[in-house]
Amino acid sequence: MDKRPIGVFDSGIGGLTVLKKIAKALPNEDLIYFGDTARVPYGTRSKETIRKFAQEDVNFLLTKNVKCIVIACHTVSSVAAIQNGSTASVPIINATTPTLNFLKDAKRKRIAVIGTRGTISSGVYKKSLRKTKVTEQECPLLVPIIEEGEKGEVLESAMRLYLSNIKKVKPDLVVLACTHYPIIKKEIKDFLGDVEILDPADLISRELKRFLVSNHLQSKSSKKGGVKFFVTDTVEHFAKNAKELLREEVSGKIERIKLTQ
Ligand code: DGL
Repeated sequence: MDKRPIGVFDSGIGGLTVLKKIAKALPNEDLIYFGDTARVPYGTRSKETIRKFAQEDVNFLLTKNVKCIVIACHTVSSVAAIQNGSTASVPIINATTPTLNFLKDAKRKRIAVIGTRGTISSGVYKKSLRKTKVTEQECPLLVPIIEEGEKGEVLESAMRLYLSNIKKVKPDLVVLACTHYPIIKKEIKDFLGDVEILDPADLISRELKRFLVSNHLQSKSSKKGGVKFFVTDTVEHFAKNAKELLREEVSGKIERIKLTQ
């Protein structure tokens, strides 16, 4: 039994799609969410920069006495090579490993992966799933379009640009390898037609739960856990975006912090 909070981080607001699933799967755990909202997006940056930011994000969460860290961000998970199990002083669960494990077991013939430029250029899905035909597609404009709440013609054009090829190859399953994409899951599904869509957030929260249970790290508290939010840009910006994108008020204290360089 371990009462310390679980740390979750993302480049910005998208990781809230993962946090939501974690809070549902582990209702009695205290959670700390860190969103690097002043430096989002990570997906268009160099590997070196992503690695540096990721280390700073981990270091910040370590100051909050967390018992483990979840990297919700797919870009960090696929580029920064911070593996499940950990190199830091606490265990780390990343977004990519549970997704790859699921895909290896699922034995689909043809899958498609959509993500940021960073995630796709890491090639991690193609490299790890050698027996599967993997079509990877970077979608750099989707994150800003989602953040702007655009659902009309602008989103349609971006989907035509990025998803037409995926539609042609008729995959068995499409992986939403970016924390923002579940926000437009319905639109993606409508565009692609009859195809299974995988939101890795379910797999990440399941893996976290399995990890905590098998290492006796769960909180045994009978009380509902709380969430504290830390962001690097303004509190108002985060609260407004969260409400608009996830159609939910952020319940929990939000604090703006400066990362020590
Ligand atoms: N959170 C990032 C991811 O899941 C998307 C936003 C970004 O580019 O930073 O890949």
